[in-house]
Amino acid sequence: MCDERGTALADSIVIRDVTKTVLTPDGPKSLLKGVDLHLEQGRIYGVIGLGGAGKSTLLKLIAGEIRPTSGTVELFGRSIRELDDADRTELLANVAKVGVTPDLAPDQTIIESVAEVAQHAQERRDRLGEDKDKPRLEPSEIALHLLRALGLRALRNLYPAQLSGGELQRASVARALADEPRILLLDEVTGALDHLESREILRLIRQLVKERNITVVLATHEISAIKEICDNVIVLDRGLVVEEGPAHAVIADPQADRTRAFVQSASSLGKVSDLLAGPDPVVDLRPGQKLISLRYVSEDVSEPLVSLVTRKFGIDVNIMLADIQIVGKYPIGGIVGIFEGPERNIRDAIIFLRGKKVRVEVIAEN
Ligand SMILES: Nc1ncnc2c1ncn2[C@@H]1O[C@H](COP(=O)(O)OP(=O)(O)OP(=O)(O)O)[C@@H](O)[C@H]1O
Ligand SMILES: [Mg+2]
Repeated sequence: MCDERGTALADSIVIRDVTKTVLTPDGPKSLLKGVDLHLEQGRIYGVIGLGGAGKSTLLKLIAGEIRPTSGTVELFGRSIRELDDADRTELLANVAKVGVTPDLAPDQTIIESVAEVAQHAQERRDRLGEDKDKPRLEPSEIALHLLRALGLRALRNLYPAQLSGGELQRASVARALADEPRILLLDEVTGALDHLESREILRLIRQLVKERNITVVLATHEISAIKEICDNVIVLDRGLVVEEGPAHAVIADPQADRTRAFVQSASSLGKVSDLLAGPDPVVDLRPGQKLISLRYVSEDVSEPLVSLVTRKFGIDVNIMLADIQIVGKYPIGGIVGIFEGPERNIRDAIIFLRGKKVRVEVIAEN
């Protein structure tokens, strides 16, 4: 696998046939079942699933907080389990995690918290003899730089109790980055935030981790978070990976029922059937009209296809609903419109659109 510049990407996290089973009063319970994943360095992975799907369990395994019942978790080619305590600690020092509830020390200002972690990271590198030639910055300078990048410069001397939920999350991300991780695990970091704020944080995170070539695994139950920053998506359903792939491809053309439900819940196109079935249908078709949905599932839909088919086939298209979003660099989504014109022309238009890799479905006709 290569990145946009054609550079080979190294495996960062490899999960081989991992199962996690716990004993409960009702008997054994499988939290993860036969999970196999290869995550590449520098990419942002979104793990999406309903509550209880196993997202946090997966993150805990990668952070070495829990052990798999069977299978292995490897970071940079080394299996966490097979190392002695000292080597394991050293390996896991590459991993930072931000959880659902920020846990900054209540008696430190946020700049003190972040600087403390930066100081520890520097001591660790000194001990390992790494980056000797790199210019040295004071921990407080590193902290200030990170807080500024996350829009918290003016609040740097406040205590956690004085910050809003979103500010606290940003401060936690700054602290995690001060640790200079190569892997950053984010568990529902934007779960409690409103849409605009979570969008802002995700964008800042994306910029910072891409500059630093950090691998990110973000657990979420919001497809909007995946669309915002993820390169790849992993869909978990009751402990099983039911789908994975580049975010654009999976969202544009979901294969698993669970993925489809997530994607539809976030798209107004999913509401078409509700509109048609409602007591007061918004669409009243006249004879010769067809209600057609067009879904863009390939990466190269950049032409203005609707105006093209209206001209080329001499038909009218009245757009009822459109939901097109850019994920990665590509438009995905689609439109629903009433097509009107000679039967044969509409049929030819459909064939033409399908040739352009557009998914065409006649939803209703009169
Ligand atoms: N130590 C444990 N003992 C028993 N059950 C557990 C344990 N840890 C997790 N579980 C159960 O395993 C399932 C998966 O939990 P996990 O926290 O990974 O889910 P999640 O996908 O992160 O859910 P959420 O979206 O609610 O955070 C849940 O049903 C949870 O109750
Ligand atoms: Mg969770």
